[in-house]
Amino acid sequence: MTRWLGWGMVLMMLTVTLGACATMSEPEPTLYKRLGGREGIRGVVDDFVAFLVADPRVKDRFTKLTPAQVEKLKTNASDQICDATGGPCSYLGKDMKAAHTGMNITEADWSATVEDLIKALDKRNVAKKDQQELIGLLAPMKKDIVGQ
Ligand code: HEM
Repeated sequence: MTRWLGWGMVLMMLTVTLGACATMSEPEPTLYKRLGGREGIRGVVDDFVAFLVADPRVKDRFTKLTPAQVEKLKTNASDQICDATGGPCSYLGKDMKAAHTGMNITEADWSATVEDLIKALDKRNVAKKDQQELIGLLAPMKKDIVGQ
C-alpha cells in the first residue's frame, strides 16, 4: 500500500514537472529569425540571384537587367521574404502577377528558379525544415507567376 502511494507520488511529481517544463519552454523563433534576420535573408537573396544569373536555363531573363534593376529586385525580394516570414518589413513592390506579366514564365523556368533558391539556402546552411517552410510560403505565388 505505502509502496503504491510512493509510486503515485513520483508519478504526480513527474507530471507536474513535465507540465511546467512544457509551459516554460521558449516558443520557436520566427522563420525570419531562423533565416538570420534581414542580413541572413539578404545573403540568401544575393546568392540566389548569383545562381540565377549563372544558370543557362534562366540567365537570359536576368542578365538583360540593368544594375539598378538587379538592385531593386534584390531589395524587393529581401523585403518580400522578410515580410512573409514574420520579420519587421513591408513588401512595397508590385504584386506577383503585375511583376511577371508578359514574361511568359514556364513550368521549367519555375522549377529551375526553385532549384537555384534551394542551392542558395544550402550554401547559407539553412536547415532543410526551414527551407521547406519558406518554399511552402512562396509556392502559392506560382499561379500568378507561371504562364502570365
Ligand atoms: C517564388 C517565385 C518568385 C518570387 C517570390 C519572385 C519575386 C519577384 C519580385 C519580388 C520581383 C520584384 C518586383 C518589383 O520590382 O516590384 C520580381 C521580379 C522579377 N522576377 Fe520574379 N519571382 C519569382 C519567380 C520568378 C521566375 C520563375 C522568374 C523567371 C525565371 C522570375 C523573373 C523575374 C524577373 C526577370 C524580374 C525583374 C523584372 C524587372 O525588374 O523588370 N521570377 N520577382
